[in-house]
Amino acid sequence: MTALTQRPLRTGSRIAGVGSYLPRRVVTNEEMCTMIDSTDEWIQQRTGIVERRWASDDEPLLMMVSEAAKSAIGKSGVAPAEIDAVIVATVTHLVQTPALAPLLAAELGLQDAAAYDISAACAGFCYALAQADALIRTGSATNVLIVGAERLSDLTDKTDRSTAFLFADGAGAAVVVPSDTTGVGPVVWGSDGTQGHVITQTQDFRDAVPDAQMPTLQMEGRAVFRWATTFIADAAKKILSESGLTPEDLEVFIPHQANNRITDSMLRHLKLPDHVVVARTIRRIGNTSAASVPIAIDELLSSGEAKSGQTALIIGFGAGLVYAGQVITLP
Ligand SMILES: CC(C)(COP(=O)(O)OP(=O)(O)OC[C@H]1O[C@@H](n2cnc3c(N)ncnc32)[C@H](O)[C@@H]1OP(=O)(O)O)[C@@H](O)C(=O)NCCC(=O)NCCS
Repeated sequence: MTALTQRPLRTGSRIAGVGSYLPRRVVTNEEMCTMIDSTDEWIQQRTGIVERRWASDDEPLLMMVSEAAKSAIGKSGVAPAEIDAVIVATVTHLVQTPALAPLLAAELGLQDAAAYDISAACAGFCYALAQADALIRTGSATNVLIVGAERLSDLTDKTDRSTAFLFADGAGAAVVVPSDTTGVGPVVWGSDGTQGHVITQTQDFRDAVPDAQMPTLQMEGRAVFRWATTFIADAAKKILSESGLTPEDLEVFIPHQANNRITDSMLRHLKLPDHVVVARTIRRIGNTSAASVPIAIDELLSSGEAKSGQTALIIGFGAGLVYAGQVITLP
């Protein structure tokens, strides 16, 4: 058997820059309550959400990922031509092919970058980060652009009082580069397809002929809530221990922005000290699925609540059911 040559392994990777794009249109709880039988008080008390963004017709997914990516690249100090892989995490790119990632690569003028989409719902960004880290450490890529982006409003039944107030639109991106130290810790991830039915869509896209209804998302909210506050809270503990950290070592906690009560419950479970900065971007942005973690990172850094070099735990979880998370050094 002929021995093949492999590329030399690298020590680690780190996030060099993050960026995000939020659609212009703000949908307040007041406006939401013209569509569903609910109240501002109920939505705030049950989820923490005050308002969310819904994209307009002139804000297609490609435009949103492109804006988020340009911002992340600009802050990373990496020249666009040096990006050799692009991964887009989304569940709302409404065509099977071509994937969004090669379109984004072309939009950015990237020459011959590897490009593909992944479908891991609200865990999508953390899945993409795990892949970027592995690609870099094995030498399969050098500088990887990862994006989480959704136009969930396209798949939301605006009259469904169990989902309409939660889901929102946005895009967040990060540039991941080689590093002599570990800026992206080991991923803890997994899935439970036996619970696939708890967040799903009403119908197959094959049924969505022009005169038929678009499929919309449906969810067993209580089942998701239970899973997130038990199993996912344990997974967050495991992420810390696999990175060799204790709760005292953590400076920032950025869970998927699904519901403030889920975040509160995870905080109690993890027993995080008071000094830890906790992402609460759901208040103004809603649940943007794959975009929620990178948007939260960008918002915390832009507002000065979190600082470059701090140690942050990120974790995404959602439809599948799937989850993934890691400890990162903030760019
Ligand atoms: C969706 C969610 C906010 C609903 O909250 P909940 O407390 O589970 O609500 P329930 O469906 O049990 O309903 C409780 C009560 O509120 C009412 N209610 C439900 N939706 C309502 C709404 N939009 N406005 C006002 N009242 C509502 C119900 O009728 C019920 O009333 P009752 O007690 O008189 O029967 C919550 O389950 C949740 O956030 N789950 C996690 C979902 C999630 O994060 N998904 C994304 C994962 S990535």
